Amino acid sequence: MTGSREIELVVAADAAAAAQLAAERLAAAARAGGHIVLTGGSTPRRAYELAAELQPDWSRAEVWWSDERCVPPDDERSNYGMAQAALLDRLAVQPAAVHRMRGELGREDGAAQYDRELGGLARFDLLLLGLGPDGHVASLYPDQPTLDETERRAIGAEAHLQPFVDRITLTLPVLRAARGVLFLVAGADKAGAAKRAFAGEPSRATPGSLVRAVEGTTTALLDTAAAAQL
Ligand code: 6PG
Repeated sequence: MTGSREIELVVAADAAAAAQLAAERLAAAARAGGHIVLTGGSTPRRAYELAAELQPDWSRAEVWWSDERCVPPDDERSNYGMAQAALLDRLAVQPAAVHRMRGELGREDGAAQYDRELGGLARFDLLLLGLGPDGHVASLYPDQPTLDETERRAIGAEAHLQPFVDRITLTLPVLRAARGVLFLVAGADKAGAAKRAFAGEPSRATPGSLVRAVEGTTTALLDTAAAAQL
């Protein structure tokens, strides 16, 4: 277990190797069963594809999302749509439950629905996150009031990076409650954000620096390009 500020840094040779390591963590979590949070953007796509190969049976797992764009699930910007194509459609046995964020409801109604869907779930077992070049995680952006939410577990948010569509996002307390937090970060454009998030002091200017498992492990998986300033 890492402490509340500790983080394990794992640097892989390149994005493909980082994706493989992330896939192994996802596959192990699916095999073990439990609640797994997927994230969006482009970086995790390859990790999802590899995880489906490593572990085709996700029947012991329930799948959730860290955040979603307020678009229909078949929209090319949908985080669910990306995970459906890269992971769910490639599985031999589907998860016990797939908890899609309903972006089509809009950010407030969609967030309220997800907060209800979370029900009595207290902790995720594995929480995958990316990191934006501005240091955002999920759809928690720098210096935004969404960082101050302590009651609701899912809230609506404005996008501060493309795609500029409203978002639904999990909030900091529920991210921090995860048993295992796993960042997957690749590319030279993330090097500055990675330094601030993983080696800097906690700061609202870099939401990634605020996410550490309170009781659990926090790991950052990076390729050498993203780790260049660490
Ligand atoms: C989203 C993601 C977001 C993502 C980062 C990194 O909805 O955009 O959930 O938090 O993880 O923006 O995105 P890339 O992997 O595309 O760089």
